[in-house]
Amino acid sequence: MGSQSIYTKENLLDSNEFRKQAHMMIDFIADYYENIEKYPVLSQVQPGYLQNLLPKSAPYYPEPIESILKDVQEHIVPGLTHWQSPNFFAYFPANGSIASFLSEMLMTGFNVAGLNWVSSPAATELESIVTDWLGQMLVLPKSFLFSGGGGGVIHGSSCEAILCTLLAARDQVLSTIGSDSIGKLVVYCSDQTHSAFRKASKIAGIHSRNFRVIKSTRSTSFALSPHLLRSTICSDIEDGLIPLYLCATVGTTSTTAVDPLGPLCDVTKDYGIWAHIDAAYAGSICICPEFRHFIDGVEAANSFSFNPHKLLVTMLDCCCLWVKDPNALINSLSTNPEYLRNKATDSKQVVDYKDWQISLSRRFRAMKLWIVLRSYGVEKLRNVLRSNVELAKLFEGLVGTDKRFEIVVPRKFSLVCFRISPSAISKCKTNIDEINKTLLESINASGRLYMTHTVVDGVFMLRCAIGATLTQEAHVLAAWNVIKKHADVILNMHV
Ligand SMILES: Cc1ncc(COP(=O)(O)O)c(C=O)c1O
Repeated sequence: MGSQSIYTKENLLDSNEFRKQAHMMIDFIADYYENIEKYPVLSQVQPGYLQNLLPKSAPYYPEPIESILKDVQEHIVPGLTHWQSPNFFAYFPANGSIASFLSEMLMTGFNVAGLNWVSSPAATELESIVTDWLGQMLVLPKSFLFSGGGGGVIHGSSCEAILCTLLAARDQVLSTIGSDSIGKLVVYCSDQTHSAFRKASKIAGIHSRNFRVIKSTRSTSFALSPHLLRSTICSDIEDGLIPLYLCATVGTTSTTAVDPLGPLCDVTKDYGIWAHIDAAYAGSICICPEFRHFIDGVEAANSFSFNPHKLLVTMLDCCCLWVKDPNALINSLSTNPEYLRNKATDSKQVVDYKDWQISLSRRFRAMKLWIVLRSYGVEKLRNVLRSNVELAKLFEGLVGTDKRFEIVVPRKFSLVCFRISPSAISKCKTNIDEINKTLLESINASGRLYMTHTVVDGVFMLRCAIGATLTQEAHVLAAWNVIKKHADVILNMHV
């Protein structure tokens, strides 16, 4: 085509242009963080709002970054719910940090797709090293670490970790009983287990009639009962079914209940069932010695996963999964097309992470974890997690001082589940759940803070999930004042 060609890649990855635009982008984001408290935490836009603001088709000619950023500010930011706001108390946090942000830049900058070892040896080797580091921080048994014959992998989400381990367990069993018997496989969880497990079971081809949801009770703080697990398994075996997999949870999504791992794994061992521990939220906190007991019993599990992208100041997305038997994953998930064949793989001396996950291409997430761990160190990370717990204790104490409110489920980590107490409206006929729903809608509509809810054992409750990186004591105190003010108005209308 020669130098006269009209076909050009000019400016797509030019270093001077990159430097200029990247500075603008960083300034934009720094301003966003500086001003984040000015925005309503929960986006107040209506469905379809963006359709009316943006053109109906993509631009034919290039547009300058300045006008793109102007549109981001004017049209996109109002449609954001601000997860990094210090007044974000909804769901579970996705707490960020400078180290994690900058390492995302670095990994994006390299933009390697480390599907197998040879495609980017550093990406693979760093992943094995940091998952071993993190495994040690959690005091996982050596059998989960590469140094002990197991190993860790970084997925994007807990949904993927649960699905992949379920596939590994399924194929291991089907390889002995034959794939025609898939209809006999049964999986187990509690009524508090994350919906990720139901989706994973569907994808894995587990028949919906073989998806056992064991009821938890308030008397055991909504933990899964080993006794009920055993009796359910026994009855399935009597019916000629084949127990396959248990998904136990440390820190359930609704109320952070903790399933008793040791006794549950005693049961799974007796029946040769794969035990997976989903600690998506609470796993991070277990790097603190005083919280480590919540994962006691993990020694007997087959796999364990948690999301550093929730509490461990690591930007989305990042889920660490450890397995004792990497071959179970590999046997289920590996593919070896000719176009990916290479000497390193053939030597069997390397890890090819494409065989430990669903997708082929993969981001260099190990870079992010490595830089977070190095930049902050174990001591500081523990103290960050402890500060969230302390703030949650503060909030819990504030709720406890107001007789109109009650803590519904005892706090374990940095989530507080509370509501207006039925006794606060004893003279009025309005349903207490309706009052609490009105309270939640009212505080969220104020834009001052954002909380979400759950219903457990038929009780509607508000969830105050503390953990956004910018949240300080003053934000927790202010949040409580907002809640009280809205409760005053609502209760005055109803009492
Ligand atoms: C206990 C638990 N498991 C699994 C998940 C799903 O996590 P992910 O979004 O990483 O798939 C969550 C999300 O909050 C969770 O709380």
